[in-house]
Amino acid sequence: MYRVSIIGAGVVGTAIGYLLKKSGYKISGIGSRTLESAYKAQHFIGEGEISTDLSAISKKADIIFITTSDDAIEGVCNKLVREKGINTGATVFHMSGALPSDILGSARNAGANVASLHPLQSLANVQEAVKNLPGSFFCLEGDDKAILIARDIVKGLKGKIITLKSDKKPLYHAGASVASNFLVATIRFGIELLEKAEIEKVVALEALLPLIKGTLMNIESLGIPLALTGPISRGDINVVEGHLRSITKEIPERLRLYIELGEYTLSIARNKGKIVDNDVKAMKSLFDKYLK
Ligand SMILES: NC(=O)c1ccc[n+]([C@@H]2O[C@H](COP(=O)([O-])OP(=O)(O)OC[C@H]3O[C@@H](n4cnc5c(N)ncnc54)[C@H](OP(=O)(O)O)[C@@H]3O)[C@@H](O)[C@H]2O)c1
Repeated sequence: MYRVSIIGAGVVGTAIGYLLKKSGYKISGIGSRTLESAYKAQHFIGEGEISTDLSAISKKADIIFITTSDDAIEGVCNKLVREKGINTGATVFHMSGALPSDILGSARNAGANVASLHPLQSLANVQEAVKNLPGSFFCLEGDDKAILIARDIVKGLKGKIITLKSDKKPLYHAGASVASNFLVATIRFGIELLEKAEIEKVVALEALLPLIKGTLMNIESLGIPLALTGPISRGDINVVEGHLRSITKEIPERLRLYIELGEYTLSIARNKGKIVDNDVKAMKSLFDKYLK
């Protein structure tokens, strides 16, 4: 049975520890900057020695997950190596989507196998994370031996794997951020417009949620561009002009954002094929007129 140590007892560290234990791994230790977080994680996971002496924890493990904030991963890894906290032949993972496995280079030089194992999932707290991680996609990049171990871990989580070249990670992560974080931002933008229409913020979110969920279901069943609806996809230029006029009057600081999103939506509408080049041209000139 592999012994696993978690270094960085936050949301992801705690959740992956819990799920790995459930898959049959032994959580031998949990290290964190504060004992309080390590204790909370231990309580949730149900096992593991805890300490703020990170190398004392990592040296007792075959697999080490460094699940600190991204900015701390490389420094923590270097410290573990300096303090001889990583055994030859051990496997070290980090779970950042943006950073390559090379930031674990000091562990590789010390004889470990390293990889990044990024769950393509939004993990807002530990309870949600243990529900959402199983079945997710995991993006994998690094040394062959570490990748083999990661494949087993993902299999245990009933997840799916995407492999990636190291230098493509920032683009991959930008895509994930656009689809997830900017979705939150776009919904907030929608709520702002409803608030300007004198709908209370709480009601606005409640009212928009069925629309958002319906849209996601359309994307799931029809894909993009077929899931696109609305005035831009129909070429209803007068309706779009009404939007632009109201936004200019009520919330002009958001006009640029509306137009940027509108222009991108227009390219999707063109791909859907319900509008022709002349509609696209007319809509583009309308956007240009309001940008001036
Ligand atoms: N949350 C997500 O949606 C998500 C999704 C995919 C991947 N990830 C990745 O998962 C990793 C962890 O993210 P998270 O959301 O779990 O962050 P988090 O909840 O903020 O947890 C990070 C933990 O790292 C610990 N830490 C920070 N610096 C440390 C140091 N120098 N030494 C020891 N421990 C340190 C902190 O410990 P203390 O509490 O003890 O101070 C904190 O609990 C990141 O690489 C992130 O990119 C996150």
